[in-house]
Amino acid sequence: MDLCPRTVLITGASSGLGLEYVKQMINLKNPPEIIVAASRNPDRATELQQLATTLASNSTIKIVKLDVECDEDIELAFQATKEAVGELGLNLLINNAAIYDRSNSGSLILQTREKMQKHFNVNVTSPVLIVQKFLPLLKQAATTSKGFSCSKAGVVMMSSRVGSQQIVFDDEPGASLSLHYKCSKSALNMATIMISRELKDDGILVFAIHPGWAKTRMGTDRAPLQPSESVQSCLNVIGTAGEALHGKLVTLHGEILPY
Ligand SMILES: NC(=O)c1ccc[n+]([C@@H]2O[C@H](COP(=O)([O-])OP(=O)(O)OC[C@H]3O[C@@H](n4cnc5c(N)ncnc54)[C@H](OP(=O)(O)O)[C@@H]3O)[C@@H](O)[C@H]2O)c1
Repeated sequence: MDLCPRTVLITGASSGLGLEYVKQMINLKNPPEIIVAASRNPDRATELQQLATTLASNSTIKIVKLDVECDEDIELAFQATKEAVGELGLNLLINNAAIYDRSNSGSLILQTREKMQKHFNVNVTSPVLIVQKFLPLLKQAATTSKGFSCSKAGVVMMSSRVGSQQIVFDDEPGASLSLHYKCSKSALNMATIMISRELKDDGILVFAIHPGWAKTRMGTDRAPLQPSESVQSCLNVIGTAGEALHGKLVTLHGEILPY
């Protein structure tokens, strides 16, 4: 099935995989009418701004300011999105914005309260509160038909295989540490499970996806995947996802990972 949401919101859309989502969505066979591209600093999001003014696109890209740590931004982004999408609501929310401080190994001895809290705030609390805030718009979209799909009403959490407790438990001794990031993605995975349970009766599809290791600021140049390859695969999964993926953590190829 082709992905064909009428309206989409992507957080962290100014760079990395978030920007790549915008680029590829405007080129879908049935591109969204409206893509709300959220950026914490729209003035510096030059590439995103250029895309928004591309005349060749059938999509309207609406750039909104959204620092996911700022409740006032979340409220203003909600109001702007509500106005942009109208009564048919929001079909797809991609919670993409996240941080990963790689300034050191992230071992136990190097953790600080500030670093742990920062990662939990951006990577867990913010996506949860963003789903909470945009829920009325997702519910509006969910009433338009039956069944589970991201073309109708979906929430995609950009997570990671390193948030899988089972996978990390089975890691070889030399595996990377990054306790702060791994704990935050693990908590995001739990949030995905809990939110999927609450939203099931509303007909809103919720799942978490691991986009592979991609060359972005977060992924670094050492990553094997181009952002375009990662997002193309993710979009295939997002386009075909149905109830079988509800509440799950999946790879960019659609395989279900253990939590
Ligand atoms: N790349 C990988 O290999 C990989 C692997 C597994 C999972 N992921 C996940 O995929 C998602 C995208 O990662 P990426 O590789 O594209 O990372 P990235 O290149 O570091 O981009 C992260 C995005 O999040 C935004 N962001 C950070 N803090 C924010 C805040 N407080 N408010 C709003 N936006 C904020 C950044 O905005 P600015 O541009 O303003 O900094 C940027 O647009 C993340 O959830 C990440 O955990 C990535």
